[in-house]
Amino acid sequence: MTDEESREDPPRRRRESDRQFDLPEFAWPLTATVGVLAAASFFWFFRGGYEHASEGQFVGPKVCQQCHPAEFDSWSQTRMANSLTVLLPGEKVEEKRMVGLDPEADYSREEGCLPCHTTGYGLVGGFVSIEETPDLAGVTCEACHGHGGSYARTVMDPEDPTFSTAEAREAGLIYPPTETVCLGCHNSGSPFVGIDYQFDFSERVARGTHQHFKLKYEHGK
Ligand code: HEC
Ligand code: HEC
Ligand code: HEC
Ligand code: HEC
Repeated sequence: MTDEESREDPPRRRRESDRQFDLPEFAWPLTATVGVLAAASFFWFFRGGYEHASEGQFVGPKVCQQCHPAEFDSWSQTRMANSLTVLLPGEKVEEKRMVGLDPEADYSREEGCLPCHTTGYGLVGGFVSIEETPDLAGVTCEACHGHGGSYARTVMDPEDPTFSTAEAREAGLIYPPTETVCLGCHNSGSPFVGIDYQFDFSERVARGTHQHFKLKYEHGK
């Protein structure tokens, strides 16, 4: 949103106030401009497609597992951890038929599907293929928390675990992952997602990411 938009009242209230007061003439072109801008940003945001949260050296979830075994175990049980599997022939047959996909086709090499079903596809150091980069198949830690090459094992030092979140963020950590990260994939670019798709962030975090554990140390905001 631009500053101009955020300063405006929501459209409904504006219309009510129009009826009560005579707005100066310049208010109409202004209202129209704001409307057009709002519509444009709406369509831009929901145009679908794929937005990866970060770009850099990916290390794969086994590296994170060394220090975060509980999150790893819980994450491995999620659908996202196994999201490459559903692209294989013979998987999710009914679901694929419903949206006009061929259930016998192998979508696990399909450029149009991989960005959202793997980690870092199309980016340097990201997913290439199941043979070359098996660890980056699926929506792994780094799809939500950012590429680990610059913070795992360095900033996140078990010998000195009291790093600040700000410090880790500077090195590329995304924490906490916000709704924007999810919407990078959870959008109408997916064949299974209609334009009326509503993504309920807090409900989805609770149900689908991994179990959340209390950290030992305070890392600040
Ligand atoms: C060598 C050990 C190590 C590795 C590898 C590691 N971490 Fe950490 N990480 C830590 C430690 C230690 C903490 C602080 C733990 C605590 O306070 O209980 C931490 C904290 C975190 C936090 C919370 C940060 C905060 O500011 O509160 C996140 C998120 C996280 N790690 C994600 C990851 C991800 C994702 C990976 C893999 C890309 C990873 N870590 C790899 C050691 C590691
Ligand atoms: C823009 C990102 C994106 C793209 C591109 C994408 N998907 Fe997905 N896909 C998703 C998301 C997000 C979900 C989970 C939707 C949900 O449950 O909210 C999903 C779910 C699925 C499912 C499971 C459906 C179910 O009901 O269990 C299958 C199968 C699938 N996708 C196949 C594909 C295939 C095949 C392609 C390429 C032709 C593709 N996807 C392209 C993001 C994407
Ligand atoms: C890199 C792309 C990507 C990102 C980023 C992503 N997701 Fe997903 N998500 C998917 C895909 C693909 C599926 C479908 C997996 C399948 O069905 O095999 C999915 C499935 C899910 C499911 C399972 C749906 C069910 O019915 O069980 C939940 C919950 C979910 N995502 C929540 C989130 C949340 C919360 C975030 C952000 C913190 C997020 N996702 C970020 C791609 C992504
Ligand atoms: C689909 C997105 C997503 C994926 C994939 C994901 N996380 Fe998280 N992670 C989150 C969210 C959301 C939080 C909660 C932030 C908050 O408390 O607000 C979180 C919190 C954490 C924390 C803080 C402590 C805790 O348990 O809440 C650590 C450590 C962490 N994740 C590590 C990992 C590791 C390691 C992996 C891979 C094995 C991983 N995450 C995969 C979204 C994700």
